[in-house]
Amino acid sequence: MIISVTSLKGGVGKSTITQNLAVCFAQSGYKVCIADADTNQSALRWSSLRDETLPPIPAFGTPEKTLSANIKQLAKDYEIVLIDGTPTLDKITSKIIVLADLLLIPILPSGLDIWATEQFLQRYEDAQIEKENPIPARFILNRYKPNTNMSKEVKEVLQETSIQVCESTLKDRTAYAEAVIKGLGVYEYKDEKAKTEFVQLYNEIFSIVKSL
Ligand SMILES: Nc1ncnc2c1ncn2[C@@H]1O[C@H](COP(=O)(O)OP(=O)(O)OP(=O)(O)O)[C@@H](O)[C@H]1O
Ligand SMILES: [Mg+2]
Repeated sequence: MIISVTSLKGGVGKSTITQNLAVCFAQSGYKVCIADADTNQSALRWSSLRDETLPPIPAFGTPEKTLSANIKQLAKDYEIVLIDGTPTLDKITSKIIVLADLLLIPILPSGLDIWATEQFLQRYEDAQIEKENPIPARFILNRYKPNTNMSKEVKEVLQETSIQVCESTLKDRTAYAEAVIKGLGVYEYKDEKAKTEFVQLYNEIFSIVKSL
């Protein structure tokens, strides 16, 4: 199972969500790895920080040229391969979308993110034509502020697109940044609220994975 976490905009939470999902899958007993398609290689660094008493989550860098072949090989060796995507409009994003059994697109509640999404949707449609198959996908609202008009508007706009929005949202919490520098996911960290909200998202994604 290949789960691609990607977007056309930087800093929306791709690496954070990839790492935290990897932790939930690993803690549930799945053999999981991260394919780090991003040049800043944050998943590689995060993986190397994990304590050896925790379930291991190897991360692999991959040159763009051999990305598809490398990831297909990883999918033979691991039950779950999470791809930490790169924030570009380049061909690599299309490749990452085509490879996905499930595509996750984090989005921040801002007008700028909505504009980027229009371009993203075009890429997504093109990728499905290339794959000659529908690619299941979900938006994930990250750093969501439930009581603001902006958040509500962004959610409404997304609900009108061809991609469904996850019911679970992630709020702005320092625990996400704190856990990452320790090589942890919030599931393994001391902030119970962050843990609870992330487990809710994981359960939602897990049930989609099971239905595929
Ligand atoms: N829900 C959240 N609450 C608080 N901070 C967050 C949250 N999600 C992400 N962050 C922080 O926002 C920053 C960007 O997140 P992250 O690196 O995951 O984004 P990205 O999409 O992978 O970025 P890039 O496009 O540069 O690879 C990081 O400092 C991260 O700790
Ligand atoms: Mg990243």
